[in-house]
Amino acid sequence: MAGWSVDGIPDQRGRTAVVTGANSGLGYVTARELARKGARVVLGCRSEARGRDAVARLRGEVPGADVELGRLDLGDLASVREFADSLPYEGLDLLVNNAGVMAMPYGTTVDGFETQFGVNHLGHFALTGLLLPALLAADQRAPVERSSGVRVVTVSSMAHLVGTIDPSDLNSERQYRRWTAYGRSKTANLLFTHELARRLAAAGSGVVAAAAHPGYAATNLQTAGPRAAGRRVAERLMALGNRVIAQSAEAGALPALYAATAPGVRPDSFTGPSLANWRGAPAPSRRAPWTLDDRAGERLWADSERLTGVSYADVLKA
Ligand SMILES: NC(=O)c1ccc[n+]([C@@H]2O[C@H](COP(=O)([O-])OP(=O)(O)OC[C@H]3O[C@@H](n4cnc5c(N)ncnc54)[C@H](OP(=O)(O)O)[C@@H]3O)[C@@H](O)[C@H]2O)c1
Repeated sequence: MAGWSVDGIPDQRGRTAVVTGANSGLGYVTARELARKGARVVLGCRSEARGRDAVARLRGEVPGADVELGRLDLGDLASVREFADSLPYEGLDLLVNNAGVMAMPYGTTVDGFETQFGVNHLGHFALTGLLLPALLAADQRAPVERSSGVRVVTVSSMAHLVGTIDPSDLNSERQYRRWTAYGRSKTANLLFTHELARRLAAAGSGVVAAAAHPGYAATNLQTAGPRAAGRRVAERLMALGNRVIAQSAEAGALPALYAATAPGVRPDSFTGPSLANWRGAPAPSRRAPWTLDDRAGERLWADSERLTGVSYADVLKA
């Protein structure tokens, strides 16, 4: 995958994709490049106004793009259900679980989950489960020669190295540290991918679950947390880091685009930038051993089903 760029994205005509958090940063670039290659893309956005702006911008950049907006707040399970129910297509070839928040001050989602765990992991867990019938349907009809296949790509982060999740305190109720909670939510993204890949394989499904991370890419992510906490100095420092050290959102989106479209991507693979997991072309990424722990994956799965009320069991039978 040395030197892989958007030019390497295979023809996406005939594929339908959902990208969460597609109105800004990596999600926007991901949606736009998939659309440029001919995919029909649903942009899952929590703000209708920001989503509409993104769709208009995308259509300006890619004339004739087959894109539409879907209202999706991952911090509200009712919204996740509405979004999944409103998807007008029978088959879904690609789900990119990209949306996220980082280092937020303590808060809870509509359903009472700690914000970062709730949005970054539980919202995507529920969404994937609810869209699974559409993914499995696409896998049934996908012609074998279609190189990209049917995939679920979840965007994690090197911040997962901060630590593994604490099953006895998933919502950080005993103690809240914003960076620890972010790192744990990103560990949850990888454990989710690990367990989903295992379950898909056990069910004999050809759907590939893979993960990616962008290294350090200049987006709204870095400033949103300090802004929400009213930490002006931290916000300015983050903005400075984005200008001086980060790579562009265009470059940061490449690992997810690779995982979503390149031929031969392996289940449970983790793709990130080649240079010190920070910048550069997509390459296999370093990964903490606890993100490959079967028992931790199974436990997180059971907890996530209980907390979200979304069960995969009926759809994904071993
Ligand atoms: N940029 C990096 O250096 C970096 C590094 C490692 C991992 N990542 C990961 O990359 C992913 C994309 O982040 P980004 O860098 O592109 O940041 P971004 O520009 O801030 O984009 C994040 C997107 O997620 C959306 N979002 C936030 N909360 C949501 C919710 N409750 N429901 C639905 N959507 C929600 C945002 O919507 P609004 O615009 O409405 O807020 C936005 O569209 C995240 O998962 C992040 O953890 C990024």
